Amino acid sequence: YFIVKGFRILDLYGLSTFVLSWWTEVQMGPPDPILGVTEAYKRDTNPKKMNLGVGAYRNDQGKPYVLSCVRKAEALIASRNLDKEYLPIGGLAEFNKACAELALGPSNEVLKSGRSITVQTISGTGSLRVGANFLSRFHTVARDVFLPKPSWGNHTPIFRDAGFQLKGYCYYDPKTCGFDFRGALDDILKIPEKSIIVLHACAHNPTGVDPRQEQWREISEVIKKRNLLVFFDMAYQGFASGDIDNDAWAVRYFIEQGHNIVLSQSFAKNMGLYGERVGGFTVVCKDTEEAKRVESQLKILIRPIYSNPPINGARIAATILNTPDLRKEWLEEVNGMASRIIRMREQLVANLKKEGSTHNWQHVTDQIGMFCFTGLKPEQVERLTKEFSIYMTKDGRISVAGVTSGNVAYLAQAIHAVTK
Ligand SMILES: Cc1ncc(COP(=O)(O)O)c(C=O)c1O
Repeated sequence: YFIVKGFRILDLYGLSTFVLSWWTEVQMGPPDPILGVTEAYKRDTNPKKMNLGVGAYRNDQGKPYVLSCVRKAEALIASRNLDKEYLPIGGLAEFNKACAELALGPSNEVLKSGRSITVQTISGTGSLRVGANFLSRFHTVARDVFLPKPSWGNHTPIFRDAGFQLKGYCYYDPKTCGFDFRGALDDILKIPEKSIIVLHACAHNPTGVDPRQEQWREISEVIKKRNLLVFFDMAYQGFASGDIDNDAWAVRYFIEQGHNIVLSQSFAKNMGLYGERVGGFTVVCKDTEEAKRVESQLKILIRPIYSNPPINGARIAATILNTPDLRKEWLEEVNGMASRIIRMREQLVANLKKEGSTHNWQHVTDQIGMFCFTGLKPEQVERLTKEFSIYMTKDGRISVAGVTSGNVAYLAQAIHAVTK
């Protein structure tokens, strides 16, 4: 047979079969950097292997964890024998209300006056994409989106695929493994007016570095000065400090200061509903009338993408948030997950000291949330993987959720071996 410019002509048994290839121009794409780590981990046969790549919570036995409040909510929902009709385009009303109240606080003036709109989305990613599409269509005065350097890897393609150009502002300081506050303020002051700035509400991914409250205050001032549109991404409410109100502080403060923000929420981590894909997108508006107009356009935007969101996860989340006993249990469980992560950070540092490491590892306990930016260099990461079967992304980020009382000593030993 022979190939002519994308057309493959087969000649079998004297019959000419004409097979058309439409995709000869399609290049092989690179694998996803995070999911690629998991693939390599799966192939490794070392019994001591550790996967610190993926951002999903594990219990102290290293197993995926389904929250007890989730199991109870599922049982409650099953007992109600509900139908499986389509949800409205904007999702489950009782979920949307509870979702916005969780982020903004139930007594927030914005909610009381009805000047916001929340739609249910396909987890945090879906929320960011609906948000990006909405801004692309209606915030036409800006084509630039400013992300912290670095930011969650998926932010770039989400906004780029929605038609934006990606720019960055200073965030992480590799010298201190902490927040580059001055650098951030200087950069934000130079952002062209009306541009979009993305802020991680808490537990910044990938660095685990969050501004302190007094720093948030100054950031808010500078952003106001530049008249920027704030896009908050809150994928870890409760996961940073263990307290949902504490973790929503920046979002609430910005609103109080008069920023009409847009907000993405995810229930993947804080309720462990990863695969259920539960999230919300909120637009804070000037008044109710504006909120109504925005709502109508969000529906027009969502309808041709996925028509309406899935029902099951939203029912689970709404049942937990709206049933006092389950909500109480949930708050304890979120706190439990956050506390285990904080404990693992402390144990990692204690074990590094025990190994005799003389480096300053304080950033490991200063950083917050699921991830820790260890400061390990790519060649050290490579050694950890090759010699110790410890898997993580090349930037030296570890998911602390993958560390347990059983493997923290091994991790410390390995890190010490590649950093001494
Ligand atoms: C910063 C950030 N935003 C959004 C998400 C969205 O995740 P999901 O789509 O699973 O809710 C994640 C998940 O890792 C994240 O880290």
